[in-house]
Amino acid sequence: MARLQLTGEKATMLGTLYGRALDAESAHPILNDTMARDAVRAIDFDFRETGLRQGDQVTVALRAEHLDTWTRQFLDAHPEAVVLHLGCGLDTRVYRVDPGPGVRWFDVDYPEVVELRRELYPPREGYEVIGSSVTDPAWFARVPGDRPVLVVAEGLTMYLRAEEGKALLRRIVGHFPSGQIVFDGFSTRGIRMQKINRIVRKAKATLYWGIDDAAELEAAAAGLRCVTTLSAFELDYGRLGAGYRALARVGRRVPVLRRMAVFYRLEF
Ligand SMILES: C[S@@+](CC[C@H](N)C(=O)[O-])C[C@H]1O[C@@H](n2cnc3c(N)ncnc32)[C@H](O)[C@@H]1O
Repeated sequence: MARLQLTGEKATMLGTLYGRALDAESAHPILNDTMARDAVRAIDFDFRETGLRQGDQVTVALRAEHLDTWTRQFLDAHPEAVVLHLGCGLDTRVYRVDPGPGVRWFDVDYPEVVELRRELYPPREGYEVIGSSVTDPAWFARVPGDRPVLVVAEGLTMYLRAEEGKALLRRIVGHFPSGQIVFDGFSTRGIRMQKINRIVRKAKATLYWGIDDAAELEAAAAGLRCVTTLSAFELDYGRLGAGYRALARVGRRVPVLRRMAVFYRLEF
């Protein structure tokens, strides 16, 4: 495979891929994403350049595990759903969740990124990749709009402008009869502090959309309501070592930190 030449927001997915690969190589994996490990081995790139350091993989794996759980919960209740996995990068969620035959699953990211996916990962029944910016309305025409949808977007919203993100929410609500939209977002303070995020800095990416209140999301489209918010520090740190548990305790107690990275589950 040719040496990778991605920059900006497209390159940030190399950091999260590397995090899942390191988790799979660790003595006690959280996600155990062995496909991520194999992808890292297959790509000609020095992954240390992503800025992800030993230890950071825990937060990457916890975040992915959490959104896998929300995805499985939705698909258990809606076995004939459509899944839109937006800003998928090289994430192997479709293989980890392994949806049943009634599900149609679409992974969406920029063309350069999905081209790489096609080289690395096998095709599967009911699964398609779409190479497009998520903000371009045209690709919705390829997605059936007659079933409930689960939209899952991990590490995506912060790369969009607020107006782009809200227009995307409106488009989703307009295209499907019902569904859930699950994602993580940064607060405006988290966006202001982006220079301390090594993956973002190393990729020369820029973060834009800060979300401080679920009401902003609900206001984006009629019928949209937020059913769950969860701080990243409220993930399942309990099974990790004392250092991580202490970090999570501080993060949960200090409001500014608690609100810095939040998971949202919206319904319509
Ligand atoms: C931090 S990475 C996360 C990737 C993946 N979800 C994961 O967790 O590994 C951000 C991803 O969002 C994608 N992205 C950012 N803005 C996008 C846009 N407007 N349209 C499509 N993809 C976008 C990038 O290409 C990149 O793959």
